[in-house]
Amino acid sequence: MRDDTVRGLERARQRTAALTEFDDGELTRQHSPLMSPLVWDLAHIGQQEDLWLLRGGNAAAQGVLPRAVERLYDAFENPRATRVDLPLLSAVEARGFLGDVRGRVFDALERTPDDASALFPFAMVEQHEQMHVETMLATHQLRDGAPILGAGTPVPAGRPVPHDGVLVPAGEFVLGVDAADEPFSLDNERPAHVVDLPAFRIGRVPVTNGEYRRFVADGGYDEPRWWSTVGWAHRVSAGLVGPQFWTADGAARVRFGTVEDLPEDEPVQHVCCHEAEAYAAWAGARLPTEQEWEKACAWDPDRGERRRWPWGASDWTPALANLGGTALRPAEVGAYPGGASAYGVEQLIGDVWEWTSSGFEAWPGFVPMLYAQYSAPFFGGDFRVLRGGSWAVDAAAVRPSLRNWDLPIRRQIFSGFRLAWDVDV
Ligand code: AVJ
Ligand code: FE
Repeated sequence: MRDDTVRGLERARQRTAALTEFDDGELTRQHSPLMSPLVWDLAHIGQQEDLWLLRGGNAAAQGVLPRAVERLYDAFENPRATRVDLPLLSAVEARGFLGDVRGRVFDALERTPDDASALFPFAMVEQHEQMHVETMLATHQLRDGAPILGAGTPVPAGRPVPHDGVLVPAGEFVLGVDAADEPFSLDNERPAHVVDLPAFRIGRVPVTNGEYRRFVADGGYDEPRWWSTVGWAHRVSAGLVGPQFWTADGAARVRFGTVEDLPEDEPVQHVCCHEAEAYAAWAGARLPTEQEWEKACAWDPDRGERRRWPWGASDWTPALANLGGTALRPAEVGAYPGGASAYGVEQLIGDVWEWTSSGFEAWPGFVPMLYAQYSAPFFGGDFRVLRGGSWAVDAAAVRPSLRNWDLPIRRQIFSGFRLAWDVDV
């Protein structure tokens, strides 16, 4: 178990290095006011690792960095748009700092008992680094100029698959997890509790670029009736005409600096929640709730128990879902028949984050974890839950119970969606 933690921390660091192996000019640039300069993410990864693993979360204790420098990496004190103006560590200094912290962390890990509860903070920090790796990929996607990340590794081809709704019959299931099932689940995924849902249908696969383009071509962006009131106001004020990174004619997209034909059969990406809801209304459907999404993903109705992954208990492999961040793109729908859930729903894990209709709230019995400000400050705000992870997520940082959240106007993230329908009984 401890060896997996070591490997997981090393894997996260290799990904961080691959996205930050550029000169200061590249790393200190602000590519978008929505994102930090890459050198901020880099040092913030080390600052959080120092805080949670070397000081047990005691911010009053002296860390590796002087206090005045450490404060620059407090995400609450410094909003993203302002980080470019801070006297940040240089890339060389940040790399030195990360290496120093990591050396001490591995010393601490050697003295840590090889059991799940003792290893939890290390796994939490591993997941935190992987989340920032995804954030850094979103920053790279916003970067202007010639490509610097390469073309991405191949993913399996799609296959013809019905774009229909899969029936999930009414009934109880277990929502969320406990430490006993998922020792490294984060606070907002817990505790496991029984939820009863009416029958519903959920998209077998996510909505594709080709499908979404028909909504655009049908004038979907000019029809207020498909949009919620706030969604339409945002569509107008932001001047939305199609998914972010599509060319004006909808025939192509820009992906990490390369213009390429729009892949019809890939899940649509870089849509905000308002766009997802408008498409769903146009299509005579709605977004799933996060409870529906999780039931369709994890529940095994024959056994009456949860699966660890939609496909079962076996560990992730690249044949089961598009995770790991190296593809630099979603795979076409139908690419992962072996990754289907018990109900036959595909591509729930990986490819694109899926918007849900749910606001971000605590499960009953919520208890904050060591990093108490991870979830709690965001409950009850104007956030929507996204599920399933994207191609940019590592397998150690996603599970059927994992809950991500963002403002409904955000679309620089790797976000798509699938549809859901009520079932008359
Ligand atoms: C879970 C993706 C919403 O980036 O705001 C990183 C993850 N929290 N550092 C975010 C996170 C603190 C978080 N999301
Ligand atoms: Fe963070």
